Parts: sequence; C-alpha cells; structure tokens
Amino acid sequence: MQLVHGIQDLRASLEQERSIGLVPTMGALHEGHGALIDRARSECGCVVVSLFVNPIQFDRGADFERYPRTLDTDAAFCERRNADFLFAPRAEEIYPRPQRTFVEVTTLSDHLCGRFRPGHFRGVATVVLKLFEIVRPHRAYFGEKDAQQVAVIRRMVADLNVAVEIIGVPTVREADGLALSSRNALLASEERKLAPYLYRSLRAASQCVEHGEINPAQVREAALAVLSGVPGMRVEYFEIVDADDLQPVERIAGPVTIAAAVWLGSTRLIDNLLVIPPQPQLQGFRC
Ligand code: PAF
Repeated sequence: MQLVHGIQDLRASLEQERSIGLVPTMGALHEGHGALIDRARSECGCVVVSLFVNPIQFDRGADFERYPRTLDTDAAFCERRNADFLFAPRAEEIYPRPQRTFVEVTTLSDHLCGRFRPGHFRGVATVVLKLFEIVRPHRAYFGEKDAQQVAVIRRMVADLNVAVEIIGVPTVREADGLALSSRNALLASEERKLAPYLYRSLRAASQCVEHGEINPAQVREAALAVLSGVPGMRVEYFEIVDADDLQPVERIAGPVTIAAAVWLGSTRLIDNLLVIPPQPQLQGFRC
C-alpha cells in the first residue's frame, strides 16, 4: 500500500487504472470503514482510501480540533485491509486558497442533521466532489450510518452528472447495537454504557412501524420513552422521514428512514434504520 500526500502524485499513480474504488474517510478508521474497504476490494481493481479531516464541514471549531487524528494506525489498517493507496492530503493541498465555490444540495440537506449543523452538508458535498475530481473513481463507498450524507451525495452525483456509482454499505454495529463511529472513542466509559440506548430507541420505533403504526407522532413517542430515562442523554432530533427525499412524513405509507441524533456529554451520536411498513391491510396497530 502506498501513502500519498499530493494530488499530482496520486493522479500519476492512478493514470493506468481502469476500475478505481474510492473510500472517502476522515480517519480514525474502524471496522465500519473496514467493511467499506472490503467491499471496494471485492469490486474494484484499485482501492483508494482518502483520509482528510475536512474543516469546512464542521459547524463548530472545537469539534474540528477534537476530531481524532491517527494517521499511523490508519495507514496500518489500510495496509491490513489490502487497500492500494491511502491518500492523506494536507489542508493546503485541498484548499490552497480560500474556497469560493461550494456544492449545495437543497431540500435533502434541510432536515435531520442539516437542521442542526448549518453548512455541514455543503462542506461534505464540496469536498466529496473535489475528491471525485482528484481520484476519478468508478465507484465510491459510503456507510449507511450516515444516511443523510449518502442521500445528499447520491443526489449531487445525479444532478451534476458525475460519472461515479455510489455504493451504500450497511452499518456495522457492536454486539450491544451501538453503530461504529470514530466519535465512539470520545465517549467516557459511563457514556459508552448508555450509548446503545440510541439503537434501542430506533428498534422500538421500527417495531411500531413494522406492526402497522402509521402515525409518526406515535412512533416517535414510543422511541422517546426508551430514551427518556437515560441519564445525561439529550435528544437533538428523532425524526421519521421519507426514505428517498428525507422529508418528514405525515403518515407512514412507504419506506421511511427513522433517524436520530443524541448527545452524551460533549459527544454527538447519530444512527438510523430504514423501515418498510407492512401492507396497508395490516396497518392500524397502535404502539
Ligand atoms: O463520512 C465522512 O467521513 C466524511 O463526511 C466524508 C464523506 C469523508 C467527507 O469528508
């Protein structure tokens, strides 16, 4: 595996490649990233992992400063996972001058995380498009834990005719259900014990829908009951949205994404489940 810092070096190395899979990351790699790399490895001749903690997608400076940076262990991780290149540019390489051009995916960015993290998806879409231009991948791999991010990137690619296939890879979880995330490393040990309640609340909500509940307010109430007694946990949002355009639904009549963000101390966790309601004749259950 080659560690590359410069755009020109990477482009020169990739010139002859005919099937490139890109796994964009911000580092602090874990088994969730491992699943993305493995999938890319199984589908592409050349696998590029990018590692760049993108300043323009952080809405709070402190969050950017505190984001884990572990280049050496990440490089060893990529090597073990058989990636071909780890592209780890410095900030000046990606932003050599003040950025004046941004990509904004409207509507899909409005709710869920977008509502609480102003400019976040603009920063994500902008850097991902830059990475697509630099690497020119045939496929790019993203974790479904960040469902809104995947939806935003899919829409950007479709709207701007970018020639890349976006592959969403299922969330990898700990045995207790907690979705793997680089931010889990920031949890204190007591917070770590409470973190799986987020997944439990999503399961409670999805069971309501699977049993036929069509009223999103009822589903939300059942889920919030699971979270209400968890000491120190603050719910930022808990939403039931249409699975395609991520807009809130008034009635659950098709596939929905149930998504939530919570705070434990100073760490923010997100998770989601895609749920398909039963046939209309089975609906009407109250949870
Ligand atoms: O999911 C992430 O790690 C980041 O948002 C991404 C896609 C690498 C863009 O910086």
